[in-house]
Amino acid sequence: MKKIAVLGYGTVGSGVVELLTKNHEKINEKAGDELRLAYILDLRDFPDSPFADKFVKAMDPILADEEVAVVAECLGGTEPAFSFLMSCLNRGISVVTSNKELIANKGAELLAAAKSHSCNCFFEASVGGAIPIIRPLHRCLAANEISAIYGILNGTTNFILNKMLSDDMPFQDALKLAQDLGYAEREPSADVDGHDACRKICILSSLAFGRHVYPESVHTEGIRDISLEDAAAADALDGSVKLIAFVKKLDDGSILPAVMPMYVPHENMISRVDGVFNCVEVCGDAIDRAYFCGRGAGKLPTASAVMGDVIEASKHHKTVFSQFWVDAGTQNFISGVEKLVCGVMIRFSAAYNAAEISSFASEYLAKAGHPDEEIAAVDNACLITVPMNQSERQALLDAFRQKGYLIAHTLPVMDA
Ligand code: HSE
Repeated sequence: MKKIAVLGYGTVGSGVVELLTKNHEKINEKAGDELRLAYILDLRDFPDSPFADKFVKAMDPILADEEVAVVAECLGGTEPAFSFLMSCLNRGISVVTSNKELIANKGAELLAAAKSHSCNCFFEASVGGAIPIIRPLHRCLAANEISAIYGILNGTTNFILNKMLSDDMPFQDALKLAQDLGYAEREPSADVDGHDACRKICILSSLAFGRHVYPESVHTEGIRDISLEDAAAADALDGSVKLIAFVKKLDDGSILPAVMPMYVPHENMISRVDGVFNCVEVCGDAIDRAYFCGRGAGKLPTASAVMGDVIEASKHHKTVFSQFWVDAGTQNFISGVEKLVCGVMIRFSAAYNAAEISSFASEYLAKAGHPDEEIAAVDNACLITVPMNQSERQALLDAFRQKGYLIAHTLPVMDA
């Protein structure tokens, strides 16, 4: 028998308790041992809960109980979660967390503590909700040189963008619905301004490239500027607007992580991943591309990933699992977004002749040294260019403006 403690009885924590109770037999079978829920830490009172006798308000009884093998942290935020988990790791208790803010900011420290105390720190639920991505990236794809990762990593914004397009639902109503469904963060700006996706791409980047990538080093934009017109223009050009978190390895050996709304062509299956679903595309030299898709948020989907880790941690009790990256100190291996080479979707404020704007852009590109390249797609009020560097994109927009064309909004284009 191994005792399990759950920290936090909010959406995810209560989901973990529910799943552990509901599938108890199956979970024990997979773990090869009985996993017994022994403690739930929460400052609130739950007198009517069937688990009322398990609630504690401090870490002391959990840390004092030598039968506790795994602690599942579902509190969110950096503190007190970090201090609590460090106390566990320092005593050789493995920890599992769904907390992306914690891993994105303190992952290297937690992993180092786990290693030096012969236990584990697992965080499958921190990226992509129910989707297995951390362990596959670390283990199954370990032989690859990773060149890029692209993903829809925030369920709330994907749900909102989808509602805006398919139901014409205003932004605020879609956000309220996402919150009611338990998808959104406590502070919605973490979702809509891209910070949640930023933390998740930091975790994937750190894992893929072996050095801790901090959120402050990542260019991050959210979806507040996206209008129904942008969504409709992308649709007219056979694509969708998605909040994309990505990291690319550049030729100079640096990596370029960023979060931004992008036009995604329908050739890429990411463009058709809707609602609260997330999708991660991993590009590697041996695999070409692999896609991981599933529910990115919600109580039981997230609890599924937490419990998978709890089972894994209990099976590897007192054994260090090599999921690891180091704290690189300076972030000089990270390039800024000015090095991004990509196409641009231009949405005009007026309807123009499609052939005319296409030929203007093609002629301009030919003069700028892209002689054989056609405009990728065009409609009478929007167009998409081939990939260009930042100064070429800027020069093309300036040329359009000088010629009198009215530009309403632009979006970077994700590679197909
Ligand atoms: N608010 C997050 C999302 C929850 O919408 O994806 C899962 O991390």
